[in-house]
Amino acid sequence: MIHPTYVVIGNPIAHSKSPQIHAAFAAQFADHPYVAGFIYQQLLAPLDGFSATVQGFADAGGRGANVTVPFKEEAFRWVGEQLTERAAAAGAVNTLVRQANGTWQGDNTDGAGLVTDLLRHINLRGQRILLLGAGGAARGALLPLLQQQPQSLSVANRTQSKAQQLLDEVAAPWRHAQGVSLPVLALGFDDLLDEVTATNLSQYDVVINATSASLSGERLPISDAIFAPNALAYDMMYGKNQTPFLAQAREAGVQQRVDGLGMLVGQAAEAFELWTGLRPEVAPVLQWMREQI
Ligand code: ATR
Repeated sequence: MIHPTYVVIGNPIAHSKSPQIHAAFAAQFADHPYVAGFIYQQLLAPLDGFSATVQGFADAGGRGANVTVPFKEEAFRWVGEQLTERAAAAGAVNTLVRQANGTWQGDNTDGAGLVTDLLRHINLRGQRILLLGAGGAARGALLPLLQQQPQSLSVANRTQSKAQQLLDEVAAPWRHAQGVSLPVLALGFDDLLDEVTATNLSQYDVVINATSASLSGERLPISDAIFAPNALAYDMMYGKNQTPFLAQAREAGVQQRVDGLGMLVGQAAEAFELWTGLRPEVAPVLQWMREQI
């Protein structure tokens, strides 16, 4: 058996589209000597066996790995000190990169994948951004969104205190270090629902769903009035059918609606570049993936 040099580790993993995506990227550089031997496979880790699995892969000469659900926080701990700034802010690692000295660096490309996908549709500088959710997905997006210098960034969550905690832990140190006064605000969903008049609601140019509510087909308790004219609604989820959040946005009259398939391909492109130094073209792979789902 040929040992894979790259893997995606998760549990479950059989559904993962990452091998297809990375094979398509590698095909863009078929003549490149480094990429000629590029092997990327799925690697199932037992739920209580992430460390042993990743260590076994490393010992067999593995050069890079993507890490997916439910191991991103465990991968963060496995790496120890060698974390990029964005992985440290995310508190999670989705990409492991073997260094020249044999050690591993932990990075997180999810937020960058989101931002590059958003930028294909809208300029984020000077925009009022609303991030819905305060779990792992939202945490990974926060720093890359702030770095785009929006006019303001609000985080709304069912449990408001978690939104506040996220801003305290990630946004506050960043703003302090950068010396920027970009307004950030933690909200509860109550603040997005003014059923009587809608007059007290703020409007947002970009509304990003980072909650897992779509998984259970649930709608979010938000008013149609939060969407500014020409707003863009982005759902980190994707599927064959329109996601519940994007259906909600459509009913609210939002014209620009984007699902998270581009984020998936985008985070993979970032990882591929970290490993190979080569920047793959996202658009044709995204189009091809769209046809597959
Ligand atoms: P992920 O890694 O996908 O972000 P997570 O860390 O478990 O998963 O976070 C899930 C997020 O979705 C949280 O913000 C959660 O809100 P709470 O912090 O209040 O639990 C949000 N969420 C999940 N189900 C939801 C629902 N039905 N309505 C609104 N928010 C929901």
